[in-house]
Amino acid sequence: MKISIFGVGYVGLTTAACLANLGHNVICIDIDQEKIRLLEEGKAPFFEPGLPELVAQNRKKNRLHFTTNAAEAVAFGEVIFNCVNTPCNGDGSANLNYVFAVAKTIGENIKEYKVIVNKSTVPPGTTRKTAEIIKENCKQQIAFDLVANPEFLREGDAVRAFNYPDKIVLGSNSDQAFSIMRKVYSGRLRTYLPIVETDWETAEVIKYANNTFLATKISFINEMANICDELGADIKIVAMALGLDYRINPRFLNPGVGYGGSCFPKDIKALIATANQKGYKARLFEEVDFANERQKKMMVQKVQKVFNNDISGRTFTILGLSFKPKTNDMREAPSIQIIKDLLALGAKIKAYDPVATEDAKKIFSNMNNIAYCESVEEAAKGSSALLLVTEWDEFRSINFTEIGKEMEEKIIFDGRNIYEPELIREEGFVYHGIGRK
Ligand SMILES: NC(=O)c1ccc[n+]([C@@H]2O[C@H](COP(=O)([O-])OP(=O)(O)OC[C@H]3O[C@@H](n4cnc5c(N)ncnc54)[C@H](O)[C@@H]3O)[C@@H](O)[C@H]2O)c1
Repeated sequence: MKISIFGVGYVGLTTAACLANLGHNVICIDIDQEKIRLLEEGKAPFFEPGLPELVAQNRKKNRLHFTTNAAEAVAFGEVIFNCVNTPCNGDGSANLNYVFAVAKTIGENIKEYKVIVNKSTVPPGTTRKTAEIIKENCKQQIAFDLVANPEFLREGDAVRAFNYPDKIVLGSNSDQAFSIMRKVYSGRLRTYLPIVETDWETAEVIKYANNTFLATKISFINEMANICDELGADIKIVAMALGLDYRINPRFLNPGVGYGGSCFPKDIKALIATANQKGYKARLFEEVDFANERQKKMMVQKVQKVFNNDISGRTFTILGLSFKPKTNDMREAPSIQIIKDLLALGAKIKAYDPVATEDAKKIFSNMNNIAYCESVEEAAKGSSALLLVTEWDEFRSINFTEIGKEMEEKIIFDGRNIYEPELIREEGFVYHGIGRK
């Protein structure tokens, strides 16, 4: 099938490469000319394991193409995916300008029947509005169908998550569109893979419900860990026991320094804002969001306590900057709040991340007292404490005995509970986890 994809971000490019790999003929369009230039030169515009290889393979087979020409992209695909960004407005609501700009472009250029698929995460009602915008901008009366098809992939594991999803959600009011979408995904369908076929609004809500539930689970375990800290209990054992209850399951029960990324924070805020617009106050979700903002500040509060509220002039090592491992994505990363808080208290930062340093530099470009390092060893030299913020695999095998020799003080704040406290103490370090003794 011929498929067009608007937006070559994490979702758009993964969707494009994976659909091309299923044998479809795919064209991608983006307004960011630099991204398209990099892709045409065979370079990746962001870090996502396995994706550059998949892009290269499918370009070689002539199944994956890039353009900045919107008219060409609209004409090409019998199915058009909209995968553009939906960031947060100042009031927490979703900014739909990019989604609606694509709808206008499609309306202006559509000349024959197309299925238009909204893959971006959008508040309920957006697919309906998108249909209106396309219709308003059509020069002639052309039939088209709209599908709400939210994406559930995870950065750092995007290719696998796209190829082996737990479910495919399709919202539409057209049997023809459902049938075409089943064809689009037919290579991706394994035995028993559930396809949920429903209406536009239900499909849109499913995506928000998914992310809000996971965010709630994280804030729940963070809250429980903070209580364990006060009581001297061990959250790791509590979480393990909790996860053994099949109704709960062990995933997303690892406390930390708060969730970040381009999805959970903005999606929960957008759901709260959407409910508010309808006159409903989503109190539970407001608390989940609040608890997460507070969690991002807990680590520096612990640092303050350990150093008797006097950290001015001290150097701290930040291990990990991206919002999670295996991505360079810095959107809403907890490291941002942690670094800002430390700097505001007069501390100096030495930071190391395997892939996100260049993205982090853009965020802290107007701030002094941050040194970006090439290795854990370099970042630890002369430091008063290590702050583990992102659990990259390479941090699991640090030689603490060696790096401890070069540090001012041997203290570690383990913001992801990846170490065993006894083992770290055997290395002569003072260990502070989240909800751990
Ligand atoms: N990143 C994730 O893990 C993830 C997972 C599931 C769903 N989502 C949702 O998918 C959507 C996209 O997320 P993302 O992380 O890929 O965003 P992104 O910012 O990485 O990419 C969006 C791309 O769209 C392009 N764009 C904007 N306007 C355009 C236009 N008019 N024409 C063509 N291209 C245009 C941008 O230049 C950018 O390259 C969001 O709604 C997000 O919430 C993201």
